Amino acid sequence: MNQPKILIVYGSRYGATADSASRLAHTFRKHDKEVTIVNLEKEKVPMITNYRLVVLGTGIKMDKWNRMAEKFLKLHHNELKKTKFALFVSSGYSRILIHKNDQVTLEKKRKKYITDKIHKYKVDPIAMNVFGGIWDYNKMSSWFRMVMTPFKEELICAGITENPQGTFDTRDFNRIDQWSKDLLQLVDK
Ligand SMILES: Cc1cc2nc3c(=O)[nH]c(=O)nc-3n(C[C@H](O)[C@H](O)[C@H](O)COP(=O)(O)O)c2cc1C
Repeated sequence: MNQPKILIVYGSRYGATADSASRLAHTFRKHDKEVTIVNLEKEKVPMITNYRLVVLGTGIKMDKWNRMAEKFLKLHHNELKKTKFALFVSSGYSRILIHKNDQVTLEKKRKKYITDKIHKYKVDPIAMNVFGGIWDYNKMSSWFRMVMTPFKEELICAGITENPQGTFDTRDFNRIDQWSKDLLQLVDK
């Protein structure tokens, strides 16, 4: 039987979105799906309409999407209307906001990172999600590292461990795995 093909495209600066995209691909392949994964910073986008599902992932920095992920949506929004489309963002603050139960800020961020974009580009995703991200103090500019040093306490209070040194991964892998299973159900519908 011809299995539906899945395309995952992503823009990642610090590696969390790249890694989450690989994790989604791994689950899809385990379920016998044919998956193409594209790093938008380095690789060309194949013909979108050849895929049953397109998943776009972007990292968030200073409240903004990765430049190439935004360019992808801008260029391909019309083709995305002809296939199933899903979207996720990697937001370093989301886990802290969940820990603080700050629903107001969580909702504001979700609007900014997801809802505003789907309205701007008039796309209609079948699924959307906000995952955590990686705070890597080794890769920050010295100014930003200084500004963000007190924030380490908040990460630790939220139960996020420093591993390896200078790195705090705020992602919940169970949520990512659950989402990939949810997407598998939707793609087969
Ligand atoms: C300079 C800088 C700015 C950031 N700004 C935000 C932000 O505005 N909102 C947020 O949720 N996370 C922010 N983060 C955390 C990122 O979302 C996190 O590093 C995530 O992993 C980025 O995705 P990527 O690893 O795929 O690049 C920032 C991180 C850095 C280093």
